[in-house]
Amino acid sequence: MKKVLVAGATGYLGGFVAKEFKRRGHFVRALARTPRKLDYMKDQLDEIVEGEVTVPESIKNVCDGIDVVFSSVGMTRQKGNLTFKDVDYQGNKNLLEVAQKAGVKKFIYVSVFNGPNLPHLAIVKAHEDFVDELKASGMNYAIIRPTGYFSDMGQFFDMAKKGCVYLFGPGNNRINPIHGADLAACCVDALEGEKQEMDVGGPDVLTYREIAKLALEVQGKRVKITSVPGWLMRFIIAVTKIFNKRQGELLAFLTTAMTSEVVAPATGTHTLKEHYSTLQENR
Ligand SMILES: NC(=O)c1ccc[n+]([C@@H]2O[C@H](COP(=O)([O-])OP(=O)(O)OC[C@H]3O[C@@H](n4cnc5c(N)ncnc54)[C@H](OP(=O)(O)O)[C@@H]3O)[C@@H](O)[C@H]2O)c1
Repeated sequence: MKKVLVAGATGYLGGFVAKEFKRRGHFVRALARTPRKLDYMKDQLDEIVEGEVTVPESIKNVCDGIDVVFSSVGMTRQKGNLTFKDVDYQGNKNLLEVAQKAGVKKFIYVSVFNGPNLPHLAIVKAHEDFVDELKASGMNYAIIRPTGYFSDMGQFFDMAKKGCVYLFGPGNNRINPIHGADLAACCVDALEGEKQEMDVGGPDVLTYREIAKLALEVQGKRVKITSVPGWLMRFIIAVTKIFNKRQGELLAFLTTAMTSEVVAPATGTHTLKEHYSTLQENR
């Protein structure tokens, strides 16, 4: 049994990871800036501590007595005054410093698939800059680089609900997205595993066009897919960045994802079709 700190437990992946550590018999302390968000899974955690990774003073004791830190803290959308650099890079670096002082043995961190090759994207750069800090820290580490989560594939389902799915680029590139529970199993395996860096994707490899079609068909909608050409996306991104840098960065990230192959070694059992069917049943 190890004592694990899960940072990011209030998010999609972190919630599954906290439950998976617990299921395998570990002691789980969850770090949250808004602890009430964890009320629904309070009985599945050993401790909940309040702290905000961007405020070092608020996390100075969170690693006391901890063997392993897992972090999926990250800003999937830039909100308020904070940037990707403030949270994904500096916030995780603050946590790493606290972990080092407390004598933590291993730090498991979630970056992004193909991260080292995408430094021009602000969100990816912030992740990989932290990865560099982690590698230089001397602490044992594991870096997980997943493709896209089923939570994000929900955006296609939501567009399909309205009758039309918009794709950036032709939609012929492939991705193997992954369910949070399948990815959590990988993250927890990393506790004992020797591998220090791993790419991870789900069991189904689909083009974006196939994903759009699936999202429409599961909801009994006529297939209606609109592709925004790559050249037009590049123009929209350039103009958006002038007026709203954050929105432009988000569009750049989504366009890169949809116009590249995002296929990693497959793991897990959950299919996107099942996931969309569950979303449809729960509507
Ligand atoms: N989604 C994808 O498809 C995908 C693919 C590859 C990699 N990733 C990466 O995987 C990680 C986890 O993703 P996810 O989908 O689980 O994200 P998520 O659901 O948005 O959860 C992010 C976690 O980070 C915390 N966080 C965000 N901003 C914060 C801030 N300013 N200060 C402190 N904590 C903050 C959130 O806390 P609050 O609940 O308090 O906001 C939450 O616990 C992210 O780094 C993401 O970039 C995601």
